[in-house]
Amino acid sequence: MARKKIGMIGGGQIGGILALLAAQRELGDVVVLDIPEKENFVKGKALDIMEATPILRCDANLSGTSNYEDLKGAAINIISAGLPRKPGMTREDLLSTNVKIITAVAEQIKKHAPDSFNIVLTNPLDAMVYTFKKITGFPKERVVGMAGVLDTSRFRSFVAMELGVSVEDVSASVLGGHGPTMVPILRLSTVGGIPITEMMPKDKLDAIVDRTRKAGTEIVKLLENGSAFFSPAASAIAMAESYLKDKRRVFPCAALCEGEYGIDGYYIGVPVIIGSGGVEKILEIKLTDEEKAQLANSLEAVKKATADTGL
Ligand code: APR
Repeated sequence: MARKKIGMIGGGQIGGILALLAAQRELGDVVVLDIPEKENFVKGKALDIMEATPILRCDANLSGTSNYEDLKGAAINIISAGLPRKPGMTREDLLSTNVKIITAVAEQIKKHAPDSFNIVLTNPLDAMVYTFKKITGFPKERVVGMAGVLDTSRFRSFVAMELGVSVEDVSASVLGGHGPTMVPILRLSTVGGIPITEMMPKDKLDAIVDRTRKAGTEIVKLLENGSAFFSPAASAIAMAESYLKDKRRVFPCAALCEGEYGIDGYYIGVPVIIGSGGVEKILEIKLTDEEKAQLANSLEAVKKATADTGL
């Protein structure tokens, strides 16, 4: 069986790690696509990773390009094209520039890889994945945004650090937009199956929730010139793997709600199943009144950013 083709659209910080992780996990052959001015740069990155494959013990072809025709037949595209944040910026400050970039990318993907599954990472996430869906007109099963996997991964890391337990045994649940209004559902978060609320006093848990909400900003401040890239890339690779291997993993992702959670026509974070059919199902959980209110508040922020796309 021929290997699957995986397009990484945007070959910057996230795109490079995406390419490395995809190769290392032998998900397929990787095409890293960037703007013409960066064509040699992404060719260099792809070649550099390819030259590491003998040591990493993985078989994958990697190439760099600025030509969308090279995406022909891609099974999946992971889109990280666009500006990242600098200190002092909110994700929404990126909107007007990134909506133009995502529009251009979506038009080309529609033309050259019309059957692909697409994972968007560009911020402001919920509005950018909405843009991609609007422009391509792809079915909602084939357009999803990466946010909740990262938000829960951050939360799980902080809990594991605090309790001194394996990150593997911490599970977490989050709903809502990718930003400070996200809604962590603590009553559904566990440590080895034990409710997290029984493992930690409320003030500690509140502090971890607060740190999770601001985790992206914490990294932006430390890096001084860009935003997180290892953890977003790892998160998107988990989603890609679930699709390519039909694992049917359950992840919080930005999916198009059409009635679920009383939300209609917006991309927002909800639990979904990702399998070979793409976003196969949105799982609806019964929320408490407080969680409903928090989700409504998060939806307002998502609605505003979505309206600002002008689409
Ligand atoms: N087509 C393809 N690539 C593009 C386009 C385009 N139209 N416009 C910009 N790019 C490329 C840039 O040339 C750059 O190489 O996107 C890449 C972005 O890389 P970085 O600047 O290193 O940003 P990164 O940290 O990878 O983040 C990208 O993902 O999580 C989000 O907030 C983050 O919006 C940001 C995006």
